[in-house]
Amino acid sequence: MSAVVNARTDDYRILAQAEILHHLAALPEIAAILGGSPADWTIRDVADGYINAVFIIDGPQGGVCAKQALPWVRYHGDSWPLAEDRAFFEASYMRRLAAIVGPLAPRLLHFDPVLQFIVMEKLSPHIVLRGGLIEGRRFPRAAADVGRYVALAAFHTSDLGVPFERKFEDIGLFSGNISLLRISVDLIFVDPYVEVWRNRYISEIDPWAKALREDVELKTAVARHRNAFLSNRQALLHGDLHSGSVMVTEDDTRVIDGEFSTFGPIGFDLGAFAANLIINWYAQGGYDRDPAERDAHRQWLLEQIATLWQTFESELLALWAASPDTDGDGYPATHFADASGQARLATIRRDFTQAVFQDLVAFAAIKMIRRVISYAQVDDFGIIEDTKRRAETQASALAFARCVLKEPARFADLGAFLDAVPRFENVGLNPDANR
Ligand SMILES: Nc1ncnc2c1ncn2[C@@H]1O[C@H](COP(=O)(O)OP(=O)(O)OP(=O)(O)O)[C@@H](O)[C@H]1O
Ligand SMILES: [Mg+2]
Repeated sequence: MSAVVNARTDDYRILAQAEILHHLAALPEIAAILGGSPADWTIRDVADGYINAVFIIDGPQGGVCAKQALPWVRYHGDSWPLAEDRAFFEASYMRRLAAIVGPLAPRLLHFDPVLQFIVMEKLSPHIVLRGGLIEGRRFPRAAADVGRYVALAAFHTSDLGVPFERKFEDIGLFSGNISLLRISVDLIFVDPYVEVWRNRYISEIDPWAKALREDVELKTAVARHRNAFLSNRQALLHGDLHSGSVMVTEDDTRVIDGEFSTFGPIGFDLGAFAANLIINWYAQGGYDRDPAERDAHRQWLLEQIATLWQTFESELLALWAASPDTDGDGYPATHFADASGQARLATIRRDFTQAVFQDLVAFAAIKMIRRVISYAQVDDFGIIEDTKRRAETQASALAFARCVLKEPARFADLGAFLDAVPRFENVGLNPDANR
């Protein structure tokens, strides 16, 4: 595959389905994956996200997935323009991480920088994790695999694992992803705390939205983490690692959709994933399910957050310990070679992961709030048709998140964080009750 370059030109055009088939027919590797001749191929639109055009193309031998960045936010239409070069950053992210995370992501097969068009391995029979969680299904590997994915990506793109020259080269590249960084900053960190046309919360949530807007302590905590998100260039992040960005089977996990990739705090990706598990926990309260099944699913969800964290932590520490001569400039092994140095290094590593945990907790809370108040809503809540019932589950999520952000000392360890989730169930629609 040729090197990826960011070369959006005036030749960009939105590809119709027939043109996609024509385009793929000219790519021998992809034509071979599909098999037969283009007349035998079928194409179907599978776009279920907010942003891009996504298609599955099947041939007699196999399939591929094609994704084109449109000049606007697909779900909203052309009144919300968006730079197409996000596909360049998605392709760059896939290329940067391919050797690091291996089979935990689909294989990038082709990127066309003029058309901002990606072709990747088709994941089958995988489903999007969010849909599976909504159905109450369990995926035994997902949380551990995501924890491992984040550990691998974090180690090999940060000052732990690579020389600063390499890291700064990556920072230079991914710093160009400004259109999507603007979306992250606005939709995650700004919009939930102001009145803005993009917010899409239901009217039953009005009192909560108002309470969040007026809560200066909460906004102070959010400001601190917004600033950390922009200024702590710790590692290359996926940038949008929610349960809709993970495709699963019972024994395989793949992380997709790295278009929001940016440098930032490692806890941001972990927090995003944890947030969406907790969202699912609260949303289950609005589904008509057998109570025993619901309780079991909820217990499993909390266990998955524990698995996510514990796998991340142990994998990161193992990578760090196994690479005493790492090229990373952060903690040179020569400074900690003797026995007392080794002991100190153990403390340093513990402090490092503890700081990541605190970030996880805070970013999880921030991500939960944005999924209730801001533009991009989630189906976990959205499928609850009775809006009062939906709002009650959302209010629980907001109450939990508000407490996490305002009283972080109460959530210093995993046990305290997970134990708190059920305590916020049924807090009600009045944000001033049960504070
Ligand atoms: N490699 C793949 N194999 C099979 N299906 C895929 C693949 N990649 C994406 N999909 C399907 O296409 C859908 C949309 O993909 P994706 O999430 O990348 O789009 P997006 O427009 O960037 O979404 P978002 O609004 O979440 O950013 C996925 O939810 C999934 O159903
Ligand atoms: Mg996307």
